[in-house]
Amino acid sequence: HKASSMLAIIGGSGLTNLSTLAVAHREVVRTPYGDPSSALLFGEIAGREAVFLARHGHGHTVAPHRVNYRANLWALKEKGATAIVAVASVGGIRDCLPGDLVLPHQLIDYTSGRDQTFFEGGEGNVVHVDFTHPYADDLRERCLAAARAAGIPLRDGGVYGAVNGPRLETAAEIDRMDRDGATLVGMTGMPEASLARELGVPYASICVVVNHAAGRGSSASEISMEGISQVLESGMDRVRRLLDHIAPLLAPEAAP
Ligand code: HPA
Repeated sequence: HKASSMLAIIGGSGLTNLSTLAVAHREVVRTPYGDPSSALLFGEIAGREAVFLARHGHGHTVAPHRVNYRANLWALKEKGATAIVAVASVGGIRDCLPGDLVLPHQLIDYTSGRDQTFFEGGEGNVVHVDFTHPYADDLRERCLAAARAAGIPLRDGGVYGAVNGPRLETAAEIDRMDRDGATLVGMTGMPEASLARELGVPYASICVVVNHAAGRGSSASEISMEGISQVLESGMDRVRRLLDHIAPLLAPEAAP
């Protein structure tokens, strides 16, 4: 059977597996845009239909600038995803601390050289999607409601600055992003968000702040990788619990 609604979760660093997903089957999906980062895992979260995709592959082998975002998003849409919650680890520029979970409401795209559209114009098909509000309002509201129900602090609002990586930023680059209004910095938020919009699938992102951005706070002189892994682990534990509360707000109970 095919569910009328299915939650898709894209997991990033620290969330290459979802222990709370009862996996029913896995499927290797091919798309006109190439292969997704990993097989799709179909199953249930809290009794609701869900599909999980590891953005960097199950063994975390695909770097942010090599991720085939088009194939990932296409595969999720093709397999019936009706909402996408993307989990990402980020650096904190302002209004947040390492360990915080943030639900951004805006983004700024600093990436370049990535395949960023399904509408190449080759077939005379030039499309300009509206992207005024890059994250789906309704989906954001449900994430916030789930966080309240779960008693897990989730900050409402933030401006995600998407950079190429894989290197981290200079202090001056972070200063510039701060002046632009970015409060978070990460390497995968774009073109993921705009590709979801092109496909018409509501998209929201739960960001785990794993370090102060370059030149800020405890990252004043350098960004410590040891610090990151601990914060990442505890942050992702909270994200897993949060997803357990999000799923029931998005999908009907799975058929027995
Ligand atoms: N910069 C960019 N991406 C990141 C960071 C950062 O400081 N931390 C986690 N992802």
